[in-house]
Amino acid sequence: MKDVILGLVGVGRIGVMHANNIASLNGVLNPQGTSVRLRLTDVAEDHARNIAAGLGAEFLPSVADLIASGVDGLVIATGTATHPELIRAGVDAGIPVFCEKPVAMNVADALPVLDYIGNNNGVVQIGHQRRFDAGYLEAKRAYQAGELGWIHSLRAVTCDMTPPPVEFLATSGGLFRDCSVHDFDILRWLTGREIVEVYAKGSNNGDPAIGDVGDVDTALAVITFDDGTVGTVSASRYNGAGHDVRLEIQGSNRTVMVGLDSKSALASAEAGITFPDGEPHQTFAERFDQAYRSEMAAFVELILGERENPCTPQDAVAASRVADAAQESLVTGAPVKVALPMAT
Ligand SMILES: NC(=O)c1ccc[n+]([C@@H]2O[C@H](COP(=O)([O-])OP(=O)(O)OC[C@H]3O[C@@H](n4cnc5c(N)ncnc54)[C@H](O)[C@@H]3O)[C@@H](O)[C@H]2O)c1
Repeated sequence: MKDVILGLVGVGRIGVMHANNIASLNGVLNPQGTSVRLRLTDVAEDHARNIAAGLGAEFLPSVADLIASGVDGLVIATGTATHPELIRAGVDAGIPVFCEKPVAMNVADALPVLDYIGNNNGVVQIGHQRRFDAGYLEAKRAYQAGELGWIHSLRAVTCDMTPPPVEFLATSGGLFRDCSVHDFDILRWLTGREIVEVYAKGSNNGDPAIGDVGDVDTALAVITFDDGTVGTVSASRYNGAGHDVRLEIQGSNRTVMVGLDSKSALASAEAGITFPDGEPHQTFAERFDQAYRSEMAAFVELILGERENPCTPQDAVAASRVADAAQESLVTGAPVKVALPMAT
């Protein structure tokens, strides 16, 4: 029986979900059964103590204590601005790190982190959970097997039902960096192609406080891939119908859509059509429950040396480059070329 102890930093919106998922991995990870134990910390001590107690996990008062306790891997689920410092702490400790997306607030801040990881032989998995979602995996398989033919159009949609707190939005880097970055990542991963240009527009018809912190509540980016294929990536914080995440890929032979199921947050306008007839998805946590669980299981397998890194910091920064370009386009009103990584 293998024994893996994970140290989790941050038990806010997503950290609590990771805590639950880590706790549920114990003994079910592989046929041999891997014992997975959880230790956690958060600057909100009382809250973190409660979460730990509820899961039979151990609370530690600081990140330094967590690392010193001898954890086998560090899971970072704090706000984005803290990611670089915490990634460095995990790399310094010589343990694999899982860090929520993105690596840093923007690409300029992320590049020194990539260098630090590379220079110190760090192992860092970034949390783009859609890479583990069954629908995206099937779309990638179909595309790469040539079943769709050549692709003429891609349309990616990510809509939340309600906005996160304005305090979070004020430090999130904007809708493209916080939300659409998942679509930028999955489009690169699925097609194996680079997005080379972005032209973005946004609007603010919801809470004016979102505009006051410099963000938009709804946005659309026209993207161009390196082979000239075009697509759109759209996002909104105000989708009353439900949490709506879809990707439509139209090829010369076939069209597939990820996220078209009985729980899709859609209603047909056609007479007699009742599909989709389930309760619509409500939150990202529920929509991607299976993907988040698989992602954390993959991190344990990475620690055990049983798999390749499924989402490297370089992958994540490549998606962030597109998000940065989209944000620049939103501000300038002009199409922006995506800065491609320097060849190394
Ligand atoms: N992959 C996804 O689908 C997804 C979804 C939501 C959020 N995220 C990412 O997860 C990160 C966290 O987002 P959130 O919405 O959970 O934020 P949040 O503000 O709800 O939670 C952050 C938690 O970290 C704690 N914290 C902050 N700094 C700390 C420190 N130095 N040491 C210990 N604890 C600290 C806070 O007290 C808080 O409890 C962000 O980077 C965000 O981009 C990813």
